[in-house]
Amino acid sequence: MADDDLDVMAALLGDPEVMRYYPRPKTRDEAQGWIDWNKRNYAEHGFGLWIVETTSGEFVGDCGLTVQRVDGVDDVEVGYHVRADLQGRGYATEAAAACRDHAAALGVRRLIAVIAPENRPSQRVAEKIGLSFERRGRSHGRDIVLYASALPVA
Ligand SMILES: CC(C)(COP(=O)(O)OP(=O)(O)OC[C@H]1O[C@@H](n2cnc3c(N)ncnc32)[C@H](O)[C@@H]1OP(=O)(O)O)[C@@H](O)C(=O)NCCC(=O)NCCS
Repeated sequence: MADDDLDVMAALLGDPEVMRYYPRPKTRDEAQGWIDWNKRNYAEHGFGLWIVETTSGEFVGDCGLTVQRVDGVDDVEVGYHVRADLQGRGYATEAAAACRDHAAALGVRRLIAVIAPENRPSQRVAEKIGLSFERRGRSHGRDIVLYASALPVA
């Protein structure tokens, strides 16, 4: 993810359908902040959310690894957002499975997904890449469900 992804990222994160489980869609400035956050993630952790494209280079969304704090504990999360018109084709599952495997290769021992309780599509993606419901919790002041899995030692 780089500054020249701002147009596609602002369209993705500004879409009320994509952001229906968030407090509200993001503004263009907030989308730039999202890109800046991921550039910091790459520098600090060596991973972050990455751009997802088809093999022909069409923008699909983002997916990747970030550090998230749930009830005061930091873990590596796999996260994903897919363009509304391209959902339901398996893109999130394919991208998230690749990120899970990359996390294991980096030596990450535990992978989580922090999901709104009513966000069943996201929970299905977590389940399909091998994460299981662990417990309810709080993150960024909101109720969440925590999906998690131990990762194999690389
Ligand atoms: C979550 C999201 C990334 C999934 O992307 P996707 O490319 O459509 O995902 P996939 O096609 O790989 O799989 C989606 C799964 O959810 C299921 N699903 C979709 N809508 C559903 C619903 N209303 N109830 C239950 N399951 C649902 C699909 O059937 C599929 O599971 P299946 O293969 O068992 O049938 C996409 O819905 C999205 O961008 N949502 C908005 C952003 C978001 O909430 N991100 C996650 C934040 S935690």
